Amino acid sequence: MRLVLFGPPGAGKGTQGLRLARDMGIPQIVTGDMLREAVAQGTGMGRKAGQYMEAGKLVPDEVVIGLIEERITAPDAANGFLLDGFPRNVAQAEAMTAMLARHGVALDRVVFMDASRDKLVDRLSGRLICKTCGFVFHRHYSPPREEGWCDQCGGELYQRDDDREDVIAQRLLVYEQQTAPLLEYYSLQPSFRRVDADGDMEGVYARLKKAVEA
Ligand code: AP5
Repeated sequence: MRLVLFGPPGAGKGTQGLRLARDMGIPQIVTGDMLREAVAQGTGMGRKAGQYMEAGKLVPDEVVIGLIEERITAPDAANGFLLDGFPRNVAQAEAMTAMLARHGVALDRVVFMDASRDKLVDRLSGRLICKTCGFVFHRHYSPPREEGWCDQCGGELYQRDDDREDVIAQRLLVYEQQTAPLLEYYSLQPSFRRVDADGDMEGVYARLKKAVEA
């Protein structure tokens, strides 16, 4: 299964995608995580990407497209993958279609996770991530047992720089301007599904799974 999850920041792509990819036995490929890793390593590409990410803007297409082509053609993605965070605009979607066609394959599902603005802001501003294993918590909806520390590995929890209120507003604006047009691009394709992502974790996951399997 070659699957794309897209939707606004905070829709739950990362947390639900992790569970779905595990259930399906396919790798979860998260462009945001790949870029944050490049930033942490201080590579030339990471330094360039970091400036855009801190400001809540999209990293230039040529950087992200190159990164994705290399990743989806890796051996562990030969039988499928779940993409989260790519494509993020119509130019990236067109590049993706062409890229897959060159390899003789196509997307099986493109799932749009739809959530209201209030929910998005609430989820992003309360998100906490483990510095060591990357596990994602939420201050109110999925709090760690011990405040500030990861249940899974004991690592320290932190808040992403771009989960500050001013950057969240900018990311939502960029989403409306650049990513929302993907709805029109994909909505008439047979692979397209829309999922109501406003509810609680279990309810959203059940709808997501059903949409992917339908
Ligand atoms: P990226 O890391 O992709 O961020 P994003 O799209 O803004 O998405 P998020 O990770 O913020 O949200 P999510 O939907 O995954 O939510 P999550 O599951 O964590 O991108 C970051 C930056 O990288 C971009 O701004 C850009 O600069 C750059 N970038 C990345 N890809 C790019 C591309 N293709 N082109 C150019 N630039 C690119 O959930 C959020 C919180 O809510 C968590 O705490 C979770 O526990 C909680 N939660 C989730 N669902 C529920 C629920 N149903 N009920 C209660 N709580 C919930």
